[in-house]
Amino acid sequence: MEAEMIAVQRLFGFSDQDLASINKLIPQLSSSALLHTTETLEKVLKQEHHHIFVARDNSPEGGGKIVGMAAIFFEDRLEGWLGEIHSVAVDSAYRGRHIGDQITSQLVADGRLKAQKEKRNIVVYLTCKPERVAANRMYRKYGFEPAAKAIPMRDPWTRKVLRDPVTGKTRYKGTNLYRKLFQP
Ligand SMILES: CC(C)(COP(=O)(O)OP(=O)(O)OC[C@H]1O[C@@H](n2cnc3c(N)ncnc32)[C@H](O)[C@@H]1OP(=O)(O)O)[C@@H](O)C(=O)NCCC(=O)NCCS
Repeated sequence: MEAEMIAVQRLFGFSDQDLASINKLIPQLSSSALLHTTETLEKVLKQEHHHIFVARDNSPEGGGKIVGMAAIFFEDRLEGWLGEIHSVAVDSAYRGRHIGDQITSQLVADGRLKAQKEKRNIVVYLTCKPERVAANRMYRKYGFEPAAKAIPMRDPWTRKVLRDPVTGKTRYKGTNLYRKLFQP
């Protein structure tokens, strides 16, 4: 598929098909998150400082369906503006085609734009579990700096790193935290 067939845009309104696509992406982020209804998604979109971006497959086969998403929200705190990135996901059938790249560069552009609009510095944070290898690499590539790191869990007696008995992967306490500063 040509890269230009994928378009990343801010979501202001949605169709039933969009809602279904978003609900297909949510379990790819969290197995415990609730799916959206028309009412709950409308409520999310009404929040002024909460920007939702979606990647659409505009190829003839894709027909404009949503295949990726991300959210960034901004908060005007007493000690300065803060931003948080959440809900970054690309449908498993579409991964590895630079759609995550397109989404992340759109988030970075939005952070920059917001800092210019508010004429204030904005620190944008995001969390990412260490086992999400692709996502961790992607954020670092876009200049998100590690601010805190998840710690491997250890057996209290032997101090050996604990691994999942099924996958063999290291078990962690906490999550990785990244930050990026946007200036006007
Ligand atoms: C993270 C995610 C959004 C990346 O989307 P994607 O469209 O597959 O990513 P891209 O093809 O744009 O690749 C972007 C960068 O991600 C990293 N990456 C992508 N696939 C990777 C893989 N299999 N292994 C390691 N790094 C990978 C690379 O840094 C890559 O850039 P590079 O090719 O220049 O090295 C996608 O894998 C996803 O939805 N994962 C499940 C949900 C998730 O982990 N979300 C993040 C929550 S914090």
